[in-house]
Amino acid sequence: MAVLKVGVLISGRGSNLQALIDAARTPGYPATIACVISNVPDAQGLARAEKTNILTQVIDHRAFKDRQSFEQALDKKLDEYGIELVCMAGFMRLLTPWFVARWRDRLINIHPSLLPAFPGLDTHKKAITAGVTSSGCTVHFVRPEMDHGPIILQAEVPVLIGDNEQALAARVLEAEHRIYPEAVRLIADGLVNIHEEQVFVANVDALAKSKVTQ
Ligand code: GRF
Repeated sequence: MAVLKVGVLISGRGSNLQALIDAARTPGYPATIACVISNVPDAQGLARAEKTNILTQVIDHRAFKDRQSFEQALDKKLDEYGIELVCMAGFMRLLTPWFVARWRDRLINIHPSLLPAFPGLDTHKKAITAGVTSSGCTVHFVRPEMDHGPIILQAEVPVLIGDNEQALAARVLEAEHRIYPEAVRLIADGLVNIHEEQVFVANVDALAKSKVTQ
């Protein structure tokens, strides 16, 4: 069976990248991590990819005159590697509408809050300050507006009394590592549809039944 070729964009630690690498190495997983591209030359995630012989590439945004020329280089590499789905995993560059349109419905992101709550940076601090009793994470298709787009999966975790940012971040991160590979699996299995900017995940049982009755 053909597996979906995934490119992962990172800027740092790469723990979500690691979750994707680990999932892709399990038998029967329908996607492969075909390349990892970082805009930061010494991003820790690059070493994680190299350890498993995944192609890595540094495209340092500082070497380009503007956002669009940086993104053109990125786009070219992704095409060169035959990438079918792009996963942003701690990629700290805003993408222009040009790039987002170019990869529309083939570009996903993970954000450490239950969107639409707390987009942007400092999400855990914002959640604690707001006094919410639960937070979580979201995997979504990318649209030009930051941390916005059709939601594929979310996971909720409690905010506990006495939580600081680090404690909440660690709890949320565990959930991120669960749902990101799961979202990629659903897409790779062709179960994710977008209708009027909402995601519908096909019911596997219903699909099997409809195949039988066709
Ligand atoms: C994660 O919390 C992710 O949701 C956010 O940036 C962080 C990246 O962490 N977009 P890592 O590099 O995957 O460890």
